[in-house]
Amino acid sequence: MFLLLPLSLLAVASATGINYNDTLARTRFWPLAGAAFGENPAQCVNSLYNMDAEFIGQYNVVCDETNVDTCSAYLAILPTERAILLAFRGTNTHGELTQEVNVTFYQPARPFVGGGLVNPFFFDAHLALVQNTSLGADFQRVTSENQGFALWVTGHSLGAALASVAAGTIAAERLYPSNAILLVAFGQPRTGNQAYADAIDRLVPNTWRVVHRGDLVTQLPPKGFKGYWHHGTEVWYNNDMSEGSPYKVCPKDDSNDCSDSLLWYNAEDHGTYFDVSLQSFSQNGCSQVTTNQV
Ligand SMILES: *[C@@H]1O[C@H](CO)[C@@H](O)[C@H](O)[C@H]1NC(C)=O
Ligand SMILES: *[C@@H]1O[C@H](CO)[C@@H](O)[C@H](O)[C@H]1NC(C)=O
Ligand SMILES: *[C@@H]1O[C@H](CO)[C@@H](O)[C@H](O)[C@H]1NC(C)=O
Repeated sequence: MFLLLPLSLLAVASATGINYNDTLARTRFWPLAGAAFGENPAQCVNSLYNMDAEFIGQYNVVCDETNVDTCSAYLAILPTERAILLAFRGTNTHGELTQEVNVTFYQPARPFVGGGLVNPFFFDAHLALVQNTSLGADFQRVTSENQGFALWVTGHSLGAALASVAAGTIAAERLYPSNAILLVAFGQPRTGNQAYADAIDRLVPNTWRVVHRGDLVTQLPPKGFKGYWHHGTEVWYNNDMSEGSPYKVCPKDDSNDCSDSLLWYNAEDHGTYFDVSLQSFSQNGCSQVTTNQV
């Protein structure tokens, strides 16, 4: 009987049995990840939740050798979702991207606390955010005051890689219960090696790595180059991601059945997810975004 079910249906649930939720990713995680790119993420989160959110703080650090580029994260409490939100901002300058590529080539990967190796740029940027801002202390306070809440971790591009390292570290160091963490990453570059992918699969079983069609950044660094390998679980939209669009779920690490199956990739698909561009979040303090509209 079971063998008659299409494989894609059998494979949709994550290790803890949670299914990918298109609505949740589309109307909550994507705007929340986008808010990290704005001048004023607090305003964005407040308009998204009609003021029913508690913005804890935004954390910025210099995150590379140029001493110019900053990496950023913000922390908020979303009572209506019974969730704590930790969102990371991705690459916002050309210089940062150059540095990412350079560091990836020239510096050794760093050992990850949960096992495996992580790209040095992502690892150091995450460490700088945790060590050189009040993020660590605020996180500890907020999580101890809101036990029982889910922990939502998200980001786009470099922010997605940082979200992956952060969620994995939080689980590995037992700073929050593994099964309460929900990681939704958009346009994530390959962040570590196969052992890192295994570690994330084990430590953060509720992980959805959303890929828009031929998003070029999700193919960087190239598969297997210096051992780089994607963790699960990929959710691939081979379309414009407008409402109601189909998607394919590939739990296997760096599966050839999802976006790896394409022959060409492009930068345009990276900047727009769910038919809403990143830029639209960073302009106007997200005043146009509500959970009903997106
Ligand atoms: C998906 O998420 C939306 C938004 O949070 C929620 O209203 C809906 O109940 C969820 N669907 C399922 C099947 O859990
Ligand atoms: C790239 O990294 C190498 C070694 O760390 C450094 O010598 C070089 O200046 C860097 N190049 C750029 C363009 O940042
Ligand atoms: C934290 O800041 C200090 C002083 O600027 C710097 O030397 C150090 O490298 C930073 N730590 C990380 C992990 O970036």
